[in-house]
Amino acid sequence: DWKMSSFVETTVKELREKIGDGKVLCALSGGVDSSVCAVLLSKAIGKQLTCVFVDHGLLRKDEGDEVEAVFGPEGPYELNFIRVNAQDYFYEKLAGQTDPETKRKIIGAEFINVFEKEAKKIGAVDFLAQGTIYPDVVESGIGKGATIKSHHNVGGLPDHVDFKEIVEPLRMLFKDEVRQVGLELGIPEKLVFRQPFPGPGLGIRIIGEVTPEKVRIVQDADYIYRSELEKAGIDMGKGQFFAALTNMRSVGVMGDERTYDYAIALRGVITSDFMTAEAAEIPWNVLQICMTRIINEVKGVNRVMYDLTSKPPGTIEME
Ligand code: XMP
Repeated sequence: DWKMSSFVETTVKELREKIGDGKVLCALSGGVDSSVCAVLLSKAIGKQLTCVFVDHGLLRKDEGDEVEAVFGPEGPYELNFIRVNAQDYFYEKLAGQTDPETKRKIIGAEFINVFEKEAKKIGAVDFLAQGTIYPDVVESGIGKGATIKSHHNVGGLPDHVDFKEIVEPLRMLFKDEVRQVGLELGIPEKLVFRQPFPGPGLGIRIIGEVTPEKVRIVQDADYIYRSELEKAGIDMGKGQFFAALTNMRSVGVMGDERTYDYAIALRGVITSDFMTAEAAEIPWNVLQICMTRIINEVKGVNRVMYDLTSKPPGTIEME
């Protein structure tokens, strides 16, 4: 794509001019926007860039390691990469919390907290890089009515980090353009076409209290679900597909034994703008395979349901 390759060339030049020999700090989530932002900067300024990746323990199965494989020392890029393993810290902060908004606020605030602590160790930097894209710029300017959910975006501005200026190299791009730039930069397709994943992660896909055990359950069920959809050739790029953990336990039977375990809700929505969405029509046999595999392979689950709710009145995430 000539337009995007010239975007890369021009932006790299501009970033070099703007940054000079300054130091840049970037919060990396593993999502498309922050990844493309990081690689673009790394291409422009190499080791002057430090990326901090906070693993809050609410990522999808193996995702933390996947991010590290791409951006860490074994990966193709020359940047300073710091992974903060804050899983236990977040689980501790979330223990006993059942209210959706409280959970969101804790995850958002602690994320900034952990990021700031790491930034302090690095010391003063000249620039803070953010993967802000055009729709973010527009959206934040529109007065919205009632707050349905308090959003947490990775890269939300920390208050106590010492920096002079913000760089947002993607702020004129739409999502599909960001993806093109990502491909242009040689970022793995798996990462470039990753489904959107909310900042609070699995924290809002586990209804009620978050525990390490529940995280393990929802990660494993979600992994099976998405692998089976992929195997069946279902295009997940048309929306969002994931498993969530309801806080409901019910009675079942396994062999001759009574079980009393959790119900997993599978969610699949088709949407173009994430403001409205409809449940995806997943073939019955695919759902049945998912049901069988999840119940057999994920300890602690004895019921699988498919969520038919549109948005509105439902939301895409559970909390
Ligand atoms: P809802 O659940 O509000 O989700 O219908 C709409 C879209 O937004 C994503 N989402 C978030 N993304 N931080 C994010 O970065 C958040 O706090 C957040 N909450 C929801 C959700 O995954 C869906 O794509």
